[in-house]
Amino acid sequence: QVRVPIVAGNWKMHKTVDEAVAFVNEIKDHLPDPKIQETALAAPTLDLTAMVKAAQGSPLKVAAENCYCKNSGAYTGETSPSMLWDAGIHHVILGHSERRRIFHENDQLINAKVKAALKVGLCPIVCCDETMGRLINGKRVHWVVARIIDDLKDLTPDEVKKVTIAYEPTWAIGTGQSADPEQAEEGCYLIRQTIEDMYSQDLANQMRILYGGSVNVDNIDRLMGSNDIDGVLVGTESLDPQTFLRLVNR
Ligand code: G3H
Repeated sequence: QVRVPIVAGNWKMHKTVDEAVAFVNEIKDHLPDPKIQETALAAPTLDLTAMVKAAQGSPLKVAAENCYCKNSGAYTGETSPSMLWDAGIHHVILGHSERRRIFHENDQLINAKVKAALKVGLCPIVCCDETMGRLINGKRVHWVVARIIDDLKDLTPDEVKKVTIAYEPTWAIGTGQSADPEQAEEGCYLIRQTIEDMYSQDLANQMRILYGGSVNVDNIDRLMGSNDIDGVLVGTESLDPQTFLRLVNR
């Protein structure tokens, strides 16, 4: 089963429109063939339209960092999945641990967002953070397993195929302390096993599962060399164009 690897940046709340466009212009002619490895950049909503325009004709996929679970209505400050789609965006990060922790998003909301995004054609990158474990029906279940079950609840196999999952241990995000490749592989393996239990082995083998948390030029190769890790979601080290290019072209 061939899963095309992906290196994705997540700028979080960084970069003005001008900075974002300058970044895209600097990297766009130096990206790998997307049949060999995909490249994506998630950026603040305000930057997206200009980035899509700047990235035209290049393999760069511009992604949103969030969206709401409704397509229109009285939801002050939100961006809808259909607005993103209309702006030429095809990917959206959902359920990042910062959204869960700072903005109190729960699995039920993430699940609704995933469904709404899929409905308009967006491919969600669903982030799965991790703490120790939690109880389901009185049984202690590994946190990533519980998260995936809840976040992907009621999705059809065809819908799940369009989802990418990013395993991001909370303690590794923005700390400079990456999970070691064995820990990262274990989390991604566990997620793949959960998909297999929920759907099928065939579907689990098709799904792309990324690792995120203090990825840098020194650890990316070892992380991406693991069986169940199909790519990385990079925060801090995606902010400089030349560093990002080094992560993409190894
Ligand atoms: O989405 C990206 C992750 O939160 C990782 O961020 O590379 O700064 O640790 P980081």
